[in-house]
Amino acid sequence: MPDSYPDRGAPLLDVTDVRVAYGDLVAVWEVSLQLRPGGITALVGRNGAGKTTLINGLCGLLPVRSGTVLLDGRDITALPPWARVSRGLTVVQEGKRVFRELTVRDNLVLGLRGGGVKRGERESELERLYARFPILGDRQRQRAADLSGGQQQMLAIATALATRPRVLLVDEPSSGLAPVFVDLVFEALAALRDEGLAILLVEQLVDEVLGGIAEDVIVLDRGRVVVRDRASNLSVEDVATSIYSSL
Ligand SMILES: Nc1ncnc2c1ncn2[C@@H]1O[C@H](COP(=O)(O)OP(=O)(O)OP(=O)(O)O)[C@@H](O)[C@H]1O
Ligand SMILES: [Mg+2]
Repeated sequence: MPDSYPDRGAPLLDVTDVRVAYGDLVAVWEVSLQLRPGGITALVGRNGAGKTTLINGLCGLLPVRSGTVLLDGRDITALPPWARVSRGLTVVQEGKRVFRELTVRDNLVLGLRGGGVKRGERESELERLYARFPILGDRQRQRAADLSGGQQQMLAIATALATRPRVLLVDEPSSGLAPVFVDLVFEALAALRDEGLAILLVEQLVDEVLGGIAEDVIVLDRGRVVVRDRASNLSVEDVATSIYSSL
C-alpha cells in the first residue's frame, strides 16, 4: 500500500497522523490524507470504522489529539470550526442537518454569514445557489422542516456552499435518499469538483464512488487506513473485500 500518492501538485488539505478519541477510546489512529483542488477522495468503511469521527476531527467538531491538519500549508489543527469555515473548510454533516424551523432562505443566509459574505453580495449569492439548486429557489420561503429528505440534503449542501468553501467534507450525503436525489447529489458534487473544490466524500455506495465520481479511495477499518489507491486501480469487489474482510 503506497503511503502517499505520486505528486499531483500541492495539497490544499494536508492531514498527517491525525488521532481522534472519545475519552480513552481512540476511534481514529494516525490517519494521513491529502486533498487536492478539483478532486474527490472517497472515504469508505463499515459502520463504526471511524469515518464520521475523522471528518469531525478535520472540521473541528472534535479535538485532534495528535497529528496535524494543514490548509494551504497553514496549521489549522486547533482552530474552532467557524475559523476553519472562514478559511475555506466546510462540512456537510451526517444526517441532513438543517435548521428545521428556519426557511430555506434563512438557512442559506446563515451559511453566507458563516462564510463572511457581505450583505451587499447576499442576493447575488442566493441567486447563484438557487440557479444551482432550482428546487431551493422554488421553496425559499418554506420552512426546512417542510422539505422532503432529499430536498433537505440539497439544502444542507447548498448551505455549506454558501460559505464559499475550497475544501468540502461530506458525510454520507446519499444516506436514506430516493434514487433521484442520490443522482442529484452526485451530480452536484461532480460539478463542484469540476469547479475546483477539494472534496472528501464519505459514502456507502461503492459502485457510485468507483463509477467515476472519486479519483482516490481510502478504506478505513477500526480507525486505520487499510487501503489507499486511485479509484481506477480498484474494483468494487476489491473495495468490498477490504471493507468487510475483518468481520
Ligand atoms: N460520541 C461518541 N462517544 C463515544 N464513542 C463514539 C462516539 N461516536 C462514535 N463513537 C465510536 O467511535 C467509533 C467510530 O464511530 P464513527 O461514528 O466515526 O464511525 P463511522 O465510520 O462514521 O460509522 P457509520 O458508517 O455508522 O456512520 C465507533 O466505535 C463508535 O462506536
Ligand atoms: Mg458515520
